[in-house]
Amino acid sequence: MGEAEISKSVLHSVLLSQVPKTQCLTDTPYGMNTILFIGQVFGLVPLFAVLIFVLTKLVSLHRCSRGIDGCGYAVLITGCDSGFGHQLAQRLEGKGFMVFAGCLFPEGAGAQSLAQNSSGNLKILRMDVTSDEDVQQAKKIVQENLPKKGLWAVVNNAGISDWAEIEWNTIENFQKMLDINLFGSLRTSVAFIPLVRAARGRMVFMSSIFAFFNCLNMAAYSVSKRGLEAFADCLRVEMASFGVKVSIIQPGNFSQATNIVKKKGGLDIWKNLDDERRRVFNRQYIELASQYYIDTCKKGFKDADMVINAMLHAITSAHPNYRYLLASAMDKFFLQLFPYLPTVLSDAVFSLSSMYTKRKEMLYNK
Ligand SMILES: NC(=O)c1ccc[n+]([C@@H]2O[C@H](COP(=O)([O-])OP(=O)(O)OC[C@H]3O[C@@H](n4cnc5c(N)ncnc54)[C@H](OP(=O)(O)O)[C@@H]3O)[C@@H](O)[C@H]2O)c1
Repeated sequence: MGEAEISKSVLHSVLLSQVPKTQCLTDTPYGMNTILFIGQVFGLVPLFAVLIFVLTKLVSLHRCSRGIDGCGYAVLITGCDSGFGHQLAQRLEGKGFMVFAGCLFPEGAGAQSLAQNSSGNLKILRMDVTSDEDVQQAKKIVQENLPKKGLWAVVNNAGISDWAEIEWNTIENFQKMLDINLFGSLRTSVAFIPLVRAARGRMVFMSSIFAFFNCLNMAAYSVSKRGLEAFADCLRVEMASFGVKVSIIQPGNFSQATNIVKKKGGLDIWKNLDDERRRVFNRQYIELASQYYIDTCKKGFKDADMVINAMLHAITSAHPNYRYLLASAMDKFFLQLFPYLPTVLSDAVFSLSSMYTKRKEMLYNK
């Protein structure tokens, strides 16, 4: 036996002597049992657990992927007198939902045409979203008339829009915008969350591209919609543990498809400016800005289908999106990029616009 072989055999016997009898795995039946036991504990059990997890997920996905059909469920929509809310109410009733259509003017033409064209599954509610009393009364009526599966969704749609530079606005203008667009949705949501939670349903918020696109003349509207999105984002996080899903709709320019544009000319703004402002802002420029706003609105989408389909998806799909950005492909690309630009660049975008240049040239009544 050579020196190398001797040290090999010594090492072998030393190693064997280190292994306790119970772990002498190769030659005793007890060792085999241990292998099986360890195999079961560390191999099969987790394998089964993973299999069960995957199967459960698949079954639940399959069960949900069919989406929601309206039968037995109710939806509440605010601002149904006209526009998106009005059209959505009709589409949802057609899909079998019971629709509670919140209207600012229940006796007005919009509410009346909804009622007349209804198949009997639509109820008009007086609902000024700035009024606690109206919202609580609406909640009472909804509770008393709920179908058997409950209130599936609340669509916070009521809103107004307006244009003016910050200094052409009054605090009251800002307050009105926030009262309707932000606090109106907040008031409605807080009142109806318990009912939606019971159905593990949906909360939908009508925002706008102006939530994150800050441009001339849209400050009040942007403040209201950005606040609304902050609220909806926080709500989504809080509601996730109850199985309630929250979606935000961000339409671009659909002013030709709804009644959102209210008539307001340059003169309406000029006559409300104090002397100090009149010395700074040029009346002709204000007229120009007014014309620019009217022309831009005319370029909007002429029908609301893209928005209504997104709202329907948010309500009925098994997997609603967090956000629906609804604009032309080109605008979408720009709008998605815009919030991530460094401020110096996003501000520079505006200085390139012809209106911005004209404004600068015409300030101080030049
Ligand atoms: N159309 C667009 O281009 C566009 C783009 C982005 C976002 N949006 C948003 O979409 C939502 C719906 O607007 P829309 O375009 O369909 O315009 P719309 O036709 O004017 O619809 C909004 C509805 O809300 C109602 N309303 C106003 N104040 C209310 C209040 N205090 N309580 C309850 N209802 C009230 C309006 O009634 P009155 O008509 O009597 O005021 C109107 O019926 C709004 O939140 C708007 O900001 C619209």
